[in-house]
Amino acid sequence: MKQICVIGVGYVGLVTAACFADLGNRVVALDVDRQRVENLKKGIMPIYEPGLEELVKRNTKGGRLSFTTSYAEALKGAEFAFIAVGTPSGVDGNADLQYVDAAARSIAQNMTVPLIIINKSTVPIGTGDWVADIVKSAQPKPIDFAVVSCPEFLREGSAIGDFMSPHRNVIGSLDKDAANKVAQLHLPLRSPIVITDLRTAEMIKYASNAFLATKISFMNELADLCELVGADVKEVAAGMGYDARIGRHFLDAGLGWGGSCFPKDVEALAYMAKEKGLNPRILHQVMEVNYDRRKAVVGHLEKLLNGSLQGKAIGLLGLAFKPNTDDMRDAPSIDISNSLLAAGANVRGYDPVARRIAAPLMPAVEIFDDVYKMAQGCDALVVVTEWNEFKQLDLEKVKGLLKCPVIYDGRNIYDPAALKTMGFTYRAIGRGFNGH
Ligand code: NAD
Ligand code: UGA
Repeated sequence: MKQICVIGVGYVGLVTAACFADLGNRVVALDVDRQRVENLKKGIMPIYEPGLEELVKRNTKGGRLSFTTSYAEALKGAEFAFIAVGTPSGVDGNADLQYVDAAARSIAQNMTVPLIIINKSTVPIGTGDWVADIVKSAQPKPIDFAVVSCPEFLREGSAIGDFMSPHRNVIGSLDKDAANKVAQLHLPLRSPIVITDLRTAEMIKYASNAFLATKISFMNELADLCELVGADVKEVAAGMGYDARIGRHFLDAGLGWGGSCFPKDVEALAYMAKEKGLNPRILHQVMEVNYDRRKAVVGHLEKLLNGSLQGKAIGLLGLAFKPNTDDMRDAPSIDISNSLLAAGANVRGYDPVARRIAAPLMPAVEIFDDVYKMAQGCDALVVVTEWNEFKQLDLEKVKGLLKCPVIYDGRNIYDPAALKTMGFTYRAIGRGFNGH
């Protein structure tokens, strides 16, 4: 059993804390957000993540997991301190490191015994060295410490499974002893462990996210061509995916990528390249192709409805940036609803879990708590997020409720032939029949 402090109880921090506790460690999780900490003490989760509530409650009850707002309390006796605070986009596209800076200073001021500081947040290359400088200069008296980069690769919606069965763990430090201790901590996960230097570890994280985003943008560009030449991008992806060099994952064409990470991380990587005098052409195109997916929705709907969207009621199926999360950060639904509103449409929205968080972000959108109520009288529905609930809709009932039986399937969840037979005017993404 090791004693661990986790700083930040958001998507990454809370999952990290709960999982390390479940692996038998003693974990104190800390956040500056008092409300979050008070709620967690009562068993109320700050985020929606499948399986998290049960895991947190089990480990809290077992005495392995506790929550605090006090750095002194969280660091007391801890051998490891994970930094898992947010690194959102700054004004210029680079990552905003103010929360990492604050966490590093608080650690320096409150540590009383030697400590391994592990950075789990996604941070620009060189941040580990910068954190080491901050800690050194902010310590009231010198106490040994090492800084290790251990980027997180979990996905929202499947975070616990991803943490517990990772494809790999990356550990970056020039301090071999610290790196080995962090590797030991991860041994129960039985994952391949890549031990490297700090900067390489930081780069592996950005490279991985940017590459996955590139795969998706590539397929989205291909989807447009598939439509024009009469090919089906879903089958193209399946056919490509059998090649182990390509892999089947992250080849799903649709309305593109969003969320709290791909957008900010691709942008931050491009920023870093530009800052060093390079021209990151691929990264810029990856972003441009992605944002064009959102812009194209209005034009496609105008074609489907044979004219202007002025006064038309359009219902959005799904608001969260992906299924199984309530995260609305850079969700495609926000840009899509704004462009539909600008085109004069009345926009409605439904999401199984993100309604409360979505509502203030899209005040002009009428949010419904029932998908069928939303469909009543709509001129068209747009599938924005592929929640399973939408795959199982009673489509005959939906057809009866809609003013026009029009579905724009932005995530390719329906069987085109079945929908056509049912009498829907149906448009998918990148499936050849659209152009024929
Ligand atoms: P988040 O916004 O959900 O949570 C961050 C938490 O840190 C918040 O609760 C906030 O109150 C707290 N915090 C801020 N400053 C603090 C401080 N000085 N001391 C203590 N707590 C503080 O963020 P997230 O989505 O968990 O992301 C965290 C980092 O992990 C980011 O760098 C992100 O890029 C990276 N990451 C995120 C995911 C993901 O799926 N969300 C996956 C992998 C990596
Ligand atoms: C992503 C990465 O997958 C994680 O490995 C990484 O840890 C995380 O970012 C991060 O750094 O925060 P996440 O954003 O939670 O995880 O979700 P993904 O499943 O990767 O989806 C991202 C976006 O891509 C979503 O908007 C999704 O709809 C879209 N997507 C995904 C596609 O459009 N097509 C696909 O084939 C896959």
